[in-house]
Amino acid sequence: MKILANDGISKTGITQLEAAGFEVLTTTVAQEQLIHYINQNNIVGLLVRSATQVRKDIIDNCPSLRLIGRGGVGMDNIDVAYAKEKGLHVINTPAASSESVAELVFAHLFGGVRFLYDANRNMPLEGDSKFKQLKKAYAGGSELRGKTLGVIGFGRIGQATAKIALGIGMKVIYTDPFIDKASITINFFDGQTVSFDFKSVTKSALLQQADFISLHVPAQKEYVIGKSEFNIMKEGIGIVNAARGGVIDEVALIDAMEEGKVSFAGLDVFESEPKPEIKILMHPKISLTPHIGAATGEAQDRIGSELASQIITLLK
Ligand SMILES: NC(=O)c1ccc[n+]([C@@H]2O[C@H](COP(=O)([O-])OP(=O)(O)OC[C@H]3O[C@@H](n4cnc5c(N)ncnc54)[C@H](O)[C@@H]3O)[C@@H](O)[C@H]2O)c1
Repeated sequence: MKILANDGISKTGITQLEAAGFEVLTTTVAQEQLIHYINQNNIVGLLVRSATQVRKDIIDNCPSLRLIGRGGVGMDNIDVAYAKEKGLHVINTPAASSESVAELVFAHLFGGVRFLYDANRNMPLEGDSKFKQLKKAYAGGSELRGKTLGVIGFGRIGQATAKIALGIGMKVIYTDPFIDKASITINFFDGQTVSFDFKSVTKSALLQQADFISLHVPAQKEYVIGKSEFNIMKEGIGIVNAARGGVIDEVALIDAMEEGKVSFAGLDVFESEPKPEIKILMHPKISLTPHIGAATGEAQDRIGSELASQIITLLK
């Protein structure tokens, strides 16, 4: 049985699938040639990340296809309900990348409070000629320890982010309309554990109390953070979005940064991805990454391995 991993799959996943007797093809087939390729090669499983679109045309015209797999969480690029209606298995790997995304959030937060995003832009240009001026410009840093992190969306990634925050001595508050209470256990390297109990606060309480905010909600119809939300935040807040483009109103974000309300933003996802607005890309107060939350070796290994296990169970 042949599996096409059109957006790639880790070696771990390939090894597991091959050991179970599957043939894994890792060619990246162009979107418009996919139907032809799947039919010609009698593909039973199509694995994608976020790039390949799996719409009705593929589902209707590829009779060999029995399974669609998404390496990662969001399934916006797959017509899930339609595929299931047509009897296809649709799988994803929701838990595999949570820790990696959470660590990226902290890369933005640690970088944000010490202006690393800007220092890294200016040191290569002026580090030798204006060292003292740059030293002064980046002198007003602050610590994360002791500050309050507000987590919007307390699912897998929100909770993984909270664990890191707790580990470095931050206070954590969260808002989530579907999770009233949560208990988080942090596991240390030597087997010790510490547990914390949380209760959801209202969104407006979170916006007023947080020193830093990190968003971990699924794609929404409306902005979660727009002008009115920025208005009630503390002065000088730092905000990170590693969830989905479109949960923060980017125009309102730029205004809030220009008014001094927001001291920095960390963005891994963008409203107009994959062509982020130039105003966002050039802004001196934004720390930028190109949607790499799940892009670690560890997360990709877990994704490959979780996909392989599910495929073996479903198709063997
Ligand atoms: N940056 C990346 O590379 C990357 C990688 C993986 C996932 N993600 C994104 O991270 C986000 C979170 O993923 P997850 O695995 O934690 O999902 P999850 O489903 O475990 O958690 C999402 C939580 O958000 C809550 N929620 C929904 N609407 C809300 C709202 N308006 N306000 C507050 N809470 C709300 C839900 O109740 C849920 O508990 C998703 O958007 C996902 O696509 C990004």
